Amino acid sequence: MSKAKPFIKWVGGKNQLLGQLEEYYPQELKKGAIKNYIEPFVGGGALFFALSQKIKIENAYLSDLNKDLILTYQVVQKRPADMLDFLEQYQKEYDATAQDKRNDLFLSVRQHFNLQRFEVNYKKMSDNWVSRAAQFIFLNKTCFNGLFRLNARGEFNVPYGKYKTAAICDEQNIMAVSKTLKNAEIVQADYTSCWDKINENSFVYFDPPYRPISATASFTTYTGTVFRDKEQIELASFFKKLDREKGAKLMLSNSDPTNENVNDTFFETAYLGYNIFKVSANRAVNCNGEKRGKISELLITNYRYEPRTLAFNFINK
Ligand SMILES: C[S@@+](CC[C@H](N)C(=O)[O-])C[C@H]1O[C@@H](n2cnc3c(N)ncnc32)[C@H](O)[C@@H]1O
Repeated sequence: MSKAKPFIKWVGGKNQLLGQLEEYYPQELKKGAIKNYIEPFVGGGALFFALSQKIKIENAYLSDLNKDLILTYQVVQKRPADMLDFLEQYQKEYDATAQDKRNDLFLSVRQHFNLQRFEVNYKKMSDNWVSRAAQFIFLNKTCFNGLFRLNARGEFNVPYGKYKTAAICDEQNIMAVSKTLKNAEIVQADYTSCWDKINENSFVYFDPPYRPISATASFTTYTGTVFRDKEQIELASFFKKLDREKGAKLMLSNSDPTNENVNDTFFETAYLGYNIFKVSANRAVNCNGEKRGKISELLITNYRYEPRTLAFNFINK
């Protein structure tokens, strides 16, 4: 089984929730009967990598709207060793640079990354992709909180994170990730593109940008596009259509608006007739993210929760 872990930090990453989410996986997945895995908002892919450590996923379809994220996944999949050459250089340079000079190093990589976007043909893999993927990982590991944010001109503008140490080049994990991604289909696309990949033998995990839990919270933009109530409702319609027409097992995460307002029934209405569970997460609880605490998050499924099958019982382990 795979030993791969997420190779980037990503806002909304599900690492800390994995133990709880596992409980709610469909029985067929726990028994190893489902082998198609679809994750249309893949981000850091915490669930995909955790699942790969437990079952043999035969077909994986991983997609996200973020062009540079998907470019990086594709390079990790196809040219990991070439990318590691760049990362090794970055690691040496970062370690050898005095703390008070690291911001300059960060800014020069960031500037290069922003300029290079005009030269990249996102449709066809090239050497440009390899250096760009390495820059993406460098910036992800050294910027403030691993954020990915673009300004109105499409420039990455997250500041340096002032880390004493940064694990920029993790060769062992990148090679394990590459192996785990070997047969995966990795696509830059809107989530609706997964439709044709789904059948009754699929497990689909949706982890869209969360609905902000307070009216004052800023919208998280990962790509320059926003995900407001209108988009949340369109996603709910897509979920219901999949349920009716494909017979796949569907699981979806989102924020729980009742953390802020007990009368907010947005998701109960949008997912009427489906199972809605609450799991507990450590998240920023105010809009500037300064205060952290336990809040609940929602997990929505189109299949029953079967507590008898709490433990994984994989036949193909
Ligand atoms: C909450 S994050 C996913 C976190 C991920 N599950 C993890 O563990 O790291 C949401 C992702 O959705 C992507 N996204 C936003 N709008 C999208 C859309 N319309 N279609 C596909 N992906 C989208 C963002 O780029 C972001 O990576």
